[in-house]
Amino acid sequence: MAEELKITAVSKGEKYRELLPQIKALIEGESDQTANLANICAALKFGMNFFWVGFYFVKHDQLVLGPFQGPVACTRINKGKGVCGTVWQNGETIVVPDVDLFPGHIACSSASKSEIVLPLFNRQKQVVGVLDVDSDELNSFDETDAMYLKQIMDLLIF
Ligand code: SME
Repeated sequence: MAEELKITAVSKGEKYRELLPQIKALIEGESDQTANLANICAALKFGMNFFWVGFYFVKHDQLVLGPFQGPVACTRINKGKGVCGTVWQNGETIVVPDVDLFPGHIACSSASKSEIVLPLFNRQKQVVGVLDVDSDELNSFDETDAMYLKQIMDLLIF
């Protein structure tokens, strides 16, 4: 039985440092990937107070929506399209301070103002999906998010 998350920190870095071991504890001992991805979304949404957080996975020639927390979202994204499709194509994290300034940004929600998307790699170093985090405020994400979200994704094996 999972316990509730405990986040007392105020600064973003401190919050991630509190959250990381709790997410680790949440997923270790559970072999079901969907269950772990779903719990990671919930832990990030409520631990970090994100507007939207979720996974997209490569299925055939598209990214398809996976576990997420937040408002309903677009289900399919083509390679090279939007922030997620660009991260799939290039294999590099993208921080978008203002979604209106990102050419081709896909607006799943008009409330979304900034976002960060990280690639997810399998053991053969192929991109198998992305983690997408959206904010309803401008300039919400930076290198701190990129670093800690990567550490959380490194807990998973794809
Ligand atoms: N904004 C993303 C699409 C996914 S939603 O934000 C959940 C993009 O441009 O790829």
